[in-house]
Amino acid sequence: MTVSSAPGKVYLFGEHAVVYGEPAVPCAIERRATVTVDARADDHIRVQARDLSLDGFTVEYAGDTAERPDVDVPEGLVDAAMGYIDAAVEQARDAADAPDAGFDITVESEIPLGAGLGSSAAVVVAGIDAATRELGVELSKDEIADRAYRAEYDVQDGQASRADTFCSAMGGAVRVEGDDCRRIETPNLPFVVGFDGGAGDTGELVAGVRDLRAEYGFAADTVESIGDIVRAGEERLYDADPDSEPTADLLAELGRLMDFDHGLLEALGVSSRTLDNMVWAAREAGAHGAKLTGAGGGGCIVALDETPETRTALRYTAECRDAFRAELDREGVRVES
Ligand code: PMV
Repeated sequence: MTVSSAPGKVYLFGEHAVVYGEPAVPCAIERRATVTVDARADDHIRVQARDLSLDGFTVEYAGDTAERPDVDVPEGLVDAAMGYIDAAVEQARDAADAPDAGFDITVESEIPLGAGLGSSAAVVVAGIDAATRELGVELSKDEIADRAYRAEYDVQDGQASRADTFCSAMGGAVRVEGDDCRRIETPNLPFVVGFDGGAGDTGELVAGVRDLRAEYGFAADTVESIGDIVRAGEERLYDADPDSEPTADLLAELGRLMDFDHGLLEALGVSSRTLDNMVWAAREAGAHGAKLTGAGGGGCIVALDETPETRTALRYTAECRDAFRAELDREGVRVES
């Protein structure tokens, strides 16, 4: 039996624009998906999944991967979870040259599904690591990131950037621009996450931005401006001392850029009333800045605040279902046993 875990992430800057070749800076957070894999004697896949962040649901299915479980949870969530696990298994079989390998798989996740925190990437990264090790193959983090990207690319019909999977595999803050992915050493950024209990449809939201860009030149300019915000933000991060606490100046500047980024994402139509209300609650509580994270439409916001004020204010905000401090995770994918 092998067990691996991998972190979720928040976008400090750059979601959506990254789809059009602009840079983005996602940061891994200490909220993990853990995948346990046991080799089977036959070629079947049996999956048990428990999303701890959604009051917990359990999905079990035995037999062919084409079968779907008969359980009382939203079909979309089950199909999404199963699709990502199937794709991770395919990558592991390919990496270990074991096309008929079968597994019993258990997924436990602290990351809300479809809420902009990279739940699917974390499951795919941890799944590939655990399943390949179960077959006696040890992959580098770079190879896990690459295979996880290919798995997401297949499941999402080609609509995937490398951002989530690279960030989850490597940990820390990363910079992604097209196929160029690298780590950025940063001080420990004090993230607070607010979750509205919902989820956005990434495919639909990405398509909405694509249509706006095609129709209006100023929407294309807006996407480019998000790229400019990312470039300004990363300059500040490069200047900072990664071994010290972040300075007040750094937090103020990053916060201002996050606010700007949220405004442009809002203009592109990917925010929502609940996300905006949480963003404003965080700002009014004294956060340095706040923005939606991920595809938007619903799900999570991320704020910068080193004090408990933002988290407390979010907890008293009607639209907020959960608020938590999210430490920067510097480790990435990790062997648990
Ligand atoms: O909500 P998430 O974590 O799937 O993030 C989507 C980020 C986008 O930039 C909108 C799409 C992408 O593939 O980069």
